[in-house]
Amino acid sequence: MTWSGECKYTWAMVSQVSTHYRLRGRNILLGITAGVAAYKAAELARLLVKVGAQVQAVMTPSASEFIGPMTLQAVTGRPVRQALFDSQHEAAMGHIELARWADLVLIAPATADFLARLAAGMADDLLATLCLASEAPLAVAPAMNEKMWRHPATQANMATLAARGVMLWGPAEGEQACGDTGPGRMLEPAELLQRAVSAMGGGRFAGRRAVITAGPTREPLDPVRFLGNRSSGRMGYAIAGSLAREGAEVTLVSGPVALECPPGVERISVETAMEMHTAALTAAKSADLFVACAAVADYRPRGAADHKIKKGAETLQVDLVKNPDILRDVAALPDRPFCVGFAAETERLREHASGKLRDKGADMIAANPVGEGLGFESDDNALLVIWKEGSLELPRQRKGRLAEQLVSVIAERMDAQATA
Ligand code: CTP
Repeated sequence: MTWSGECKYTWAMVSQVSTHYRLRGRNILLGITAGVAAYKAAELARLLVKVGAQVQAVMTPSASEFIGPMTLQAVTGRPVRQALFDSQHEAAMGHIELARWADLVLIAPATADFLARLAAGMADDLLATLCLASEAPLAVAPAMNEKMWRHPATQANMATLAARGVMLWGPAEGEQACGDTGPGRMLEPAELLQRAVSAMGGGRFAGRRAVITAGPTREPLDPVRFLGNRSSGRMGYAIAGSLAREGAEVTLVSGPVALECPPGVERISVETAMEMHTAALTAAKSADLFVACAAVADYRPRGAADHKIKKGAETLQVDLVKNPDILRDVAALPDRPFCVGFAAETERLREHASGKLRDKGADMIAANPVGEGLGFESDDNALLVIWKEGSLELPRQRKGRLAEQLVSVIAERMDAQATA
């Protein structure tokens, strides 16, 4: 974008740019119906993807007369869904699951016919069925000939939809594809993006930066071996995803794990504790929140051998030196972020957690019992969250759900600290 005459953005749009993070990691089901404006859906999808949203395009059967599914697939990175009874896609993500997946359903363009079917509560194709099955906010961007728009039938349908809480975005007035002039043009993609941003609200971490360490570290012994620990990284990745969904700008400093980076999160991949230390401290300097979720190796071999250590004597001694404590060093930064540490313990959970809170200078410790099917490499976890003035037990559950609850507790404590 330039500030010369060809700039297509208005000041109102520019002032909104900083709120685009609200769509980061959010799931948007983009419905496309059979109108000439369907060609603009590709640009809308591109803008949504650009700001970090996950976009699933769903087309009505005749929408493909106006735009090719391949175009939308290329832009969104996901196969377009079209048929209600499609065994291949239903097996991967069934239509009910897809309806649940959506954080926002946006129909752009929405034809007169589709709006009528929506108002009547029809479920005669995949898109209409999804609208009926989803509890997500629903927005429509009407696009049709101005006479069709003005028709009492369409107006009555719009009134029904509005009364039901459907967000009506547009239409704009202007010249139409058919040569008429009047209301019925679909809003421009940039305008629809702004509406989506506003509709998705701020999130509890809107405007805040978070840095999270996750996964194990590997401390090389020689070119083929390392000392490490059992950490899948799942808890840290779940927290990173949860923070991004709450509007935070998230940097994930990750050791080697077999996980995909959550949507809307920036990942810095590291291997050793020293690398993690450097990356985390650099990123944490400008952060509001630091969550140390990594299982950092406490010690590293004094020097990695240049060549593979060959088998020889009955015993082998390895000299280890202590790694720096990343959490403690971040907590000691001059303008430090709110610091949350973890404590994986096999015994005396509260006692060890309180010790770590004090010794590391953290604001909060989330302690989890290891064993009995909990902790490393498990899908479930339970947490005892402690801070100076209180504590809270989060019972055993899936790590994803637990991460959301922990993020809520962190938000409350950060707000309490800010207003203290
Ligand atoms: N931690 C860290 N840097 C290290 C070691 C630990 O940032 N070098 C962080 C972990 O990410 C976690 C917290 O400190 O948030 C506690 O880690 P844990 O391994 O349980 O504690 P240690 O300090 O290593 O103590 P111990 O192993 O003796 O229990």
